[in-house]
Amino acid sequence: MHIVNTDQAEAWNGPEAVNWAGLSERDAPVNGALTRTLLAAARIGSGDRILDVGCGTGETTRLAARLAPRGRVLGVDLSALLLDHARSAAVAAGLANVEFAQGDVQVHPLPGSTFDIAISQFGVMFFADPVAAFANVRYALRSGGRLAFVCPRDMSENAWYVTPMSALHPGRSADQLPASAMFSLADAARLTGVLERAGLTDIHTRPVDAPMAFGPDAGAAADGFLGSGPVLAVLQRADGPPPEVARQLLVEALRPYEGPDGVRIPGAHWLVTATRPVDGHRGPRDSAGVAGG
Ligand SMILES: C[S@@+](CC[C@H](N)C(=O)[O-])C[C@H]1O[C@@H](n2cnc3c(N)ncnc32)[C@H](O)[C@@H]1O
Repeated sequence: MHIVNTDQAEAWNGPEAVNWAGLSERDAPVNGALTRTLLAAARIGSGDRILDVGCGTGETTRLAARLAPRGRVLGVDLSALLLDHARSAAVAAGLANVEFAQGDVQVHPLPGSTFDIAISQFGVMFFADPVAAFANVRYALRSGGRLAFVCPRDMSENAWYVTPMSALHPGRSADQLPASAMFSLADAARLTGVLERAGLTDIHTRPVDAPMAFGPDAGAAADGFLGSGPVLAVLQRADGPPPEVARQLLVEALRPYEGPDGVRIPGAHWLVTATRPVDGHRGPRDSAGVAGG
């Protein structure tokens, strides 16, 4: 398997994946409202062939498979651990039209001109070379095929990130918090430029506000954040707080977000749609050194 995003591969095959798998099984952190918005924008038809980029434990893969009972869905992800969960869940759901592949979407040998639609729920922000990665997705789409994904807007607009990270960095404003790859596509102009350079067209970015779900109460939410990459990085710093102090700080910060449905924290996202041009012209993927189509 060819992987160029080695840091991400390490993270998503290690503690980050264990934590995300636990969160996904307990309480999909990406709240249902955003997932529904994504799938509505994807306009999946019953016979469509769909690619799910960075599918994780396969929640959107399964939902897409149900919307395309005569079609097929391929979920691709870096994480063996998350794909194990995705495969088991698809079998348990009795879905015969899904398959999964472990790979780095930036360089994975996707079949060319194959998919009607590519979707992603928070799986496209971690590419070291996003132009190459989106060009690879464009190559996998059929002529006129469509891309729909959601990703976070600016860090400062995302209370689900700012709240726990501010609790661990008292006195710092939102723009002084450690940056995260989660927000690599937050700038709409840059995001649009990346997709254009990847050979996509008809690009639309629409802001969508939808809360993120983090478990039944502040204690569970704190435990989830304690296993996330950004918080683990704080704990590993020489001047980082001991885990039990960090947990207490997180619980106090997250308590105001407890409600009847558990911990829900506002999230600010982009819903992005784009199209592979109908002419199927050779584009940047060729210059990225991967076969064109
Ligand atoms: C925040 S999780 C989202 C997972 C899933 N889409 C969901 O909604 O639960 C990000 C996912 O992207 C995957 N990922 C990150 N970089 C990737 C890459 N270069 N190729 C394939 N998957 C990648 C990670 O392994 C992880 O499963």
